[in-house]
Amino acid sequence: MRRLRDWFRSERPALPQSPSDPATTQVIRFYDDFADYDAQAKSGWLGPQVSFGLVYPHLAKGQRIVDFGVGTGLGAALFRKAGCTITGLDASAGLLEACAAKGVCEALHLHDLNRAPYPIGTGSADHIICNGVLHFIPDLGVVFDEAARILRPGGAFYFDVARILSPENPAARQGIATGSGQRMILHPDATIMPLLAERGLTVSTSLPYFFFYEMFEIDGAVTLTRLHFQAYLCHKPG
Ligand SMILES: C[S@@+](CC[C@H](N)C(=O)[O-])C[C@H]1O[C@@H](n2cnc3c(N)ncnc32)[C@H](O)[C@@H]1O
Repeated sequence: MRRLRDWFRSERPALPQSPSDPATTQVIRFYDDFADYDAQAKSGWLGPQVSFGLVYPHLAKGQRIVDFGVGTGLGAALFRKAGCTITGLDASAGLLEACAAKGVCEALHLHDLNRAPYPIGTGSADHIICNGVLHFIPDLGVVFDEAARILRPGGAFYFDVARILSPENPAARQGIATGSGQRMILHPDATIMPLLAERGLTVSTSLPYFFFYEMFEIDGAVTLTRLHFQAYLCHKPG
């Protein structure tokens, strides 16, 4: 673990491949400089707790967790506490550096989730978690392909997506969160469900959590918009 930490401290590694698009470059820059991420997350971000709570009934000590978009390891830390080993992937070297310093992950990989294959073996994860990440990913098919490949049969896959609360504007599939300047993609169930089914992943739970307001720009019009995250627990058949 020390070696992992030292590697991130000695030099900030570059992504093995350039980011897949300009919006992803912007997101990575934003998170690279997000020094007080953990302090801000304390003001209400519950993705790590929700993922742990939903996966917990399927969890056993010693299991291997892969965290897509591990960030500073807030979710990984909970699974570590439960006796699991965690491999984290993220495109932000800055956040991976903070994660490495905590010593909660066995392995960390600097990787853009838009690009397959991920550097993780087939069938090597008991469970996969992905907290607060997929509103940055245009094509969920890539992530779901990799989740279905990396999961062992019977494993659980937890993820969430951002949504506009009702009345849902069907045109609002993507907008800009004006505070951070980031593009947010609001994947609807009409997209998610067929993609999961095509990969043999079955949804057992879907629930809304983390309600928040954002100045949100859709088609040039900026409005105060109420958003939330929708959590999903899926399984790969055993
Ligand atoms: C809101 S943070 C969530 C971090 C962590 N999962 C948590 O719950 O605290 C979003 C994370 O997604 C990562 N991310 C965004 N786009 C990514 C991409 N294309 N590939 C890999 N990671 C990405 C960011 O670097 C950041 O760590």
